[in-house]
Amino acid sequence: MSTASEPNSERVRGVGAMHELASRVAAGLEPGMVVGLVGELGAGKTELTRGLVRALGVPADQSVCSPSYLLLNLYEGGRIPVAHFDAYFMAGPDDLERAGFADLRRSGYLVVIEWADRVTQAVPEETLWIQIELEEDQDERRVQWKSSAEFSLG
Ligand SMILES: Nc1ncnc2c1ncn2[C@@H]1O[C@H](COP(=O)(O)OP(=O)(O)OP(=O)(O)O)[C@@H](O)[C@H]1O
Ligand SMILES: [Mg+2]
Repeated sequence: MSTASEPNSERVRGVGAMHELASRVAAGLEPGMVVGLVGELGAGKTELTRGLVRALGVPADQSVCSPSYLLLNLYEGGRIPVAHFDAYFMAGPDDLERAGFADLRRSGYLVVIEWADRVTQAVPEETLWIQIELEEDQDERRVQWKSSAEFSLG
């Protein structure tokens, strides 16, 4: 039940705080899990992904950017390999499947999807949904997550 302290919601100020939140999320992630990111243009979906990828120990020479036109970026060499999708230009769930979603999960990749609300039918029920909302202060964001039962944010 939701309380005044809103345990599934945090306000973060600045990119550093977003990365700190990402590193707490990363600690609970396992191969094959799916993280669905939701939020408007410039909300911070890529910034949160960057925080996850760095916290998983992917070497810094692999830069993290929106894979908008590529559909998919892969980051390897960390605790879990990461497949980073962007569904912004996808017409629907079939596009995610064609881009290798199921195969990558089976191969043990953590799958992170920007604009995941565009491909909801393709993602599993246990997806960790993270929604980022812009606040009045341009460095501030509200981050809300809806997790599967196994997931706890440390
Ligand atoms: N607290 C914050 N958390 C995340 N990003 C922030 C924060 N404060 C400022 N920013 C800035 O907001 C921008 C977020 O951009 P980012 O590319 O991560 O958004 P996005 O949601 O991936 O957008 P797109 O839908 O275009 O891919 C960056 O320039 C980042 O520096
Ligand atoms: Mg992005």
